[in-house]
Amino acid sequence: MTQIINFAHRGASAVCPENTMVAFRKALELGATGIETDVQMAKDGKLVLIHDESVNRTTNGQGWVKDYTFDEIQQLDAGSWFQESFRGEHLPSLEELLLLTKDKETIINIELKNGIIQYPELEERVIATIRSFGMEDRIVISSFNHYSLVKCKSIAPEIRTGILYMEGLYEPWEYAKTVSADALHANKYAVLPEWIEEAKANGIVYHPFTVNDSEEMKRLIVAKVAGIITDHPDRLHHLLQIEGA
Ligand code: G3P
Ligand code: MG
Repeated sequence: MTQIINFAHRGASAVCPENTMVAFRKALELGATGIETDVQMAKDGKLVLIHDESVNRTTNGQGWVKDYTFDEIQQLDAGSWFQESFRGEHLPSLEELLLLTKDKETIINIELKNGIIQYPELEERVIATIRSFGMEDRIVISSFNHYSLVKCKSIAPEIRTGILYMEGLYEPWEYAKTVSADALHANKYAVLPEWIEEAKANGIVYHPFTVNDSEEMKRLIVAKVAGIITDHPDRLHHLLQIEGA
């Protein structure tokens, strides 16, 4: 069987409201072996799983995540914007996701959303939470903020990190080594098969995002990426079964 990690992007976000517990549970039902999620920080330092810096798009509230306490944020409805039947879903804490997956084998990709707002001690808090669950070997921390990934590595060398990027970086495996990263979380257009081989030879793996088209998935499976981040874990699960590699 293939070991390619099937990362559900924000949970099963094609069929559920993104970054909610229902989306994470659905992802596991659909065959995801990994879950990608985004973490921001509330006013009281609690870690909240939400993609945007503001609650406007994915809840019935208004304003910045950083201006809400976690208790206040949990009162918001994070489901009905997607579909009325999901009314009552709330924004989860990082703990809730780790609790859901602790006794499974799921790999969790925690994306630090500190490109726009520099949350104080975000790295320390995320790492302390991971350690409190003893899940260090099941996590990949990623970010577009590579300074933050260097900081994570210095605090927790045992936790894998992945650099997020959009562009055609030259020899990204060499760059990854300069920030002590383990994985390349490249935009799907910034991946060519020959680079995957070369990265692997340098001890660095590819986890491209966000790959929703079956033909693109096939191309990356054949090229032997280590993981694929997708809104459609069911689609990828199906292909990986056919592939049987
Ligand atoms: O981690 C992959 C992907 O989630 C990065 O972009 O904006 O969807 O968080 P975004
Ligand atoms: Mg993300």
